[in-house]
Amino acid sequence: MSQTLGKNNNADNAGNKAVGKSINRVDGRLKVTGAARYSAEIPVEKITYGVIIGSTIAHGRIKSIDTRAAESSPGVLAILTHLNAPKLRPMPALAAGGAALESRVPLQDAFIYHSGQNIGVVIADTFERATHAATLVRVTYEEQPPVVEMERQRAKAVVPKEKVAGKPPDTVRGNPAQGLAQADVRVEETYTTPTEHHNPMEPHATTAMWEGERLTVYDATQYTFGVRKTLAETFGIPEDNVRVVCHFIGGAFGCKTMWSQVSLAALAARYTRRPVKLILTREQMFTMVGHRAQTEQQVTLGAKRDGHLTAIMHKGISHTSQAEVGEFVEPYTVATHMMYASPNLQTSQRLVRLNKGIPTYMRAPGEAPGMYALESALDELSYELRLDPIELRLRNHADTDPDENLPWSSKSLKECYKLGAEKFGWSRRNPTPRSMRDGRYLIGMGMASATYPVYRFPATARARILQDGSAVVYSSTHEMGTGTATVMAQVAADVLGVPVERVRFELGDTDLPRAPVSGGSATMASVGTALQGATQAARAKVLELARMDTRSPLYGIPETEIAFENGQIFLKSEPTKSETYETVLKRQNLQQVEANFDAKFDEAQKKFSMHSFGAQFAEVRIDPDFGEVRVTRFTGAFATGRIMNFKTARSQMIGGIVMGIGMALLEETVTDSRFGRIVNRNLGEYHVPVNADIPAIEAYFVEETDPHVNPIGAKGVGEIGITGVAAAVANAVYHATGKRIRELPITPDKLL
Ligand code: MOS
Repeated sequence: MSQTLGKNNNADNAGNKAVGKSINRVDGRLKVTGAARYSAEIPVEKITYGVIIGSTIAHGRIKSIDTRAAESSPGVLAILTHLNAPKLRPMPALAAGGAALESRVPLQDAFIYHSGQNIGVVIADTFERATHAATLVRVTYEEQPPVVEMERQRAKAVVPKEKVAGKPPDTVRGNPAQGLAQADVRVEETYTTPTEHHNPMEPHATTAMWEGERLTVYDATQYTFGVRKTLAETFGIPEDNVRVVCHFIGGAFGCKTMWSQVSLAALAARYTRRPVKLILTREQMFTMVGHRAQTEQQVTLGAKRDGHLTAIMHKGISHTSQAEVGEFVEPYTVATHMMYASPNLQTSQRLVRLNKGIPTYMRAPGEAPGMYALESALDELSYELRLDPIELRLRNHADTDPDENLPWSSKSLKECYKLGAEKFGWSRRNPTPRSMRDGRYLIGMGMASATYPVYRFPATARARILQDGSAVVYSSTHEMGTGTATVMAQVAADVLGVPVERVRFELGDTDLPRAPVSGGSATMASVGTALQGATQAARAKVLELARMDTRSPLYGIPETEIAFENGQIFLKSEPTKSETYETVLKRQNLQQVEANFDAKFDEAQKKFSMHSFGAQFAEVRIDPDFGEVRVTRFTGAFATGRIMNFKTARSQMIGGIVMGIGMALLEETVTDSRFGRIVNRNLGEYHVPVNADIPAIEAYFVEETDPHVNPIGAKGVGEIGITGVAAAVANAVYHATGKRIRELPITPDKLL
């Protein structure tokens, strides 16, 4: 049921179908020519500029704010603080369809919970004048000592209020203590991952304007409908009065849900009766729009001599903000539940409240840090057992989901190990640590598993077949740079049997049919299903017009005998009996035919456990004198259902791997414990990988046919690419040096 697609044995096995082809991005030209308009770039008449004032303390309350000098500064229209800001209502929770992670409504009181918290907004006629005026605002505080070190707050850790990725915060399967007692070999180690920031190229940006009680917002968001609902509830107006538009996103990775600048832009626009544009600075991108939480994870593995796991325990803490700001759990134990076939399992997650902004989703929230810990521990166990790391994983392969007691809808993890190992050259690895060299450099090879769940969310779409035989499909999903606009057009083109150039997909506007948050790698599964359904429904309407019409060559022919290909609607057994969309619509004198579709998924009735899997392989070269780690080669093999567009899917994997290498070696947000302030809040000191850090990355697919995940058969490709990468690199570092680094990032100082 599976076939391999890869760089060299690729790919375009789709015949005359669009799905499965490596089609270039439909918006590629717009983007490279600068014609694509991002949220901050939409021209609006009489625009004004908002600049947020951030708190310089991390904990306490505002004693006084003196805005007099700022107010008389040239070009200033207004300054809003908690002293004069209109009252706003509470924001709806995520579960209620809201988009804001923070529950704190801005500018309603004097309390300060974290450094950089918004305490005011200056509105002026230019960005520069607003920025200058903001520096003239004088704030005094009643300061309390900030609590920002998670390690010092272990004793105060609390049980999460909400579930942790759908599971209770504490879980037990079988009898973990007994399992551990039966083990011949144990690994018990603590792994830590630091706070990380998303840092998309495009900062958060919002333009808000009112016409009476109607609000229009251009926002960089991966959840237009969530922003709409949140704004409607906060301002106490009907949802229909709010329109949220977002045509392009310059990277999101989970942070572009909704943050305070959206409400502040709308508030400022209402107050000044002028459109307001509010763009966050790079520095503000570190303080008020979420981050990946710091984690400290203990993993305990017990195994028999033959490698079979008798128990897995995975416990730990991560940080969240103060209760008034909101609670977020980084669900690092999520993959541990289903990854290996241990009969005994225990997981436990606790939260530490700090004076930091609220953490949020960041590419593979949970799996990214969790698989670093779990897959590092597996690697440690493989050395204890003197067993090849792949062989250890094969011996513990979960043939069914051990937690849900459900069969997999499809699973090709073994094929991924095999393909990845072959392409990477795993057999050339000498298993002994510190045994491989290249001149004075130490060489290491490491591997890890990758996984990510298949999520599906309700979605709606509309398809319109036009009289010229072209089609337009609509759904308010988002183009985050992943290729959504391209792949959706491919889906619709195949349903209609027309070339992909004949289909246009319109997205990113709440005037269009409702789409879910573009998160959880679920857009193809959710919106794709809706769009396929809508296009099928529109096609059926056209066919019906032909079948009911005595003038049509298809008159009276049953639907099952009809095919749609090469722009023709024809009788399968006699292809010359054919019509085109154009001839049908013209004869009926119709400009267009339209249909809608609601995609719903019954998660409660699920009979299969649905996940993507993969295998990650890293080769590192380490300078033994300076501790510098270079990743010299990286190979990933992934099974993510049907591959819709090999080119865009491969790009997602490569992007995930690059981000994973950053996580392994570079990324770390540093907070000054005295002031609770982030020290490296810029891209000069917060290190993300650059070209020189990244080797040639190879990404391969084991393509699967999975009829259970959704009618399209795609599992989603946005997040799995990052999972397991940091572990593969850390495992390669151990193999090269004999030194186990259990604290990310693996910086040179830790290797000396
Ligand atoms: Mo993703 S972290 O679900 O945008």
